[in-house]
Amino acid sequence: MAEHLIIEGASKAEKYQTLLPQAHALIQGETDLVAALANLSAALATTFDWLWTGFYLVKNEQLVLGPFQGPIACTRIPHGRGVCGSAWAQNRTLLVDDVDAFPGHIACSSSARSEIVVPIRDAAGKVVAVLDVDSDQLASFDQTDADYLERIVAPLAALLPAG
Ligand code: SME
Repeated sequence: MAEHLIIEGASKAEKYQTLLPQAHALIQGETDLVAALANLSAALATTFDWLWTGFYLVKNEQLVLGPFQGPIACTRIPHGRGVCGSAWAQNRTLLVDDVDAFPGHIACSSSARSEIVVPIRDAAGKVVAVLDVDSDQLASFDQTDADYLERIVAPLAALLPAG
């Protein structure tokens, strides 16, 4: 496994373009889900200047905190609650330009201003986890983030039991 990521390019899309194959190599090089998520959160957090980058895993009808980089965070999120629970319930990526304008947003950090949450699905299409990224700036995330983050997490399905 490479010791360092090689991230090139000035634009966000260029950074994602160089990160994408390296993120997939991290996933393909490991069969344990938590180990892969841990390295993926580190890879994303060291590439971008985000406030919080991490994963919540569906366990017993709740989202439970998984590997992450950033300040300590809420450990459990009910189905349909907050941005994470809504992305899970709606089975789609949610982009939130201003978290204060999102009904039910769960403020793990008072510094959070915008957020993106990407569902992670097993091979059967069921949501089994979410990737959550927070920024301390308004409107940090757009369709470029959604497209690349969805592509980055897609191979995780291979590490999950279909259910
Ligand atoms: N803000 C999220 C909760 C998780 S923390 O941001 C890490 C939400 O509303 O679901």
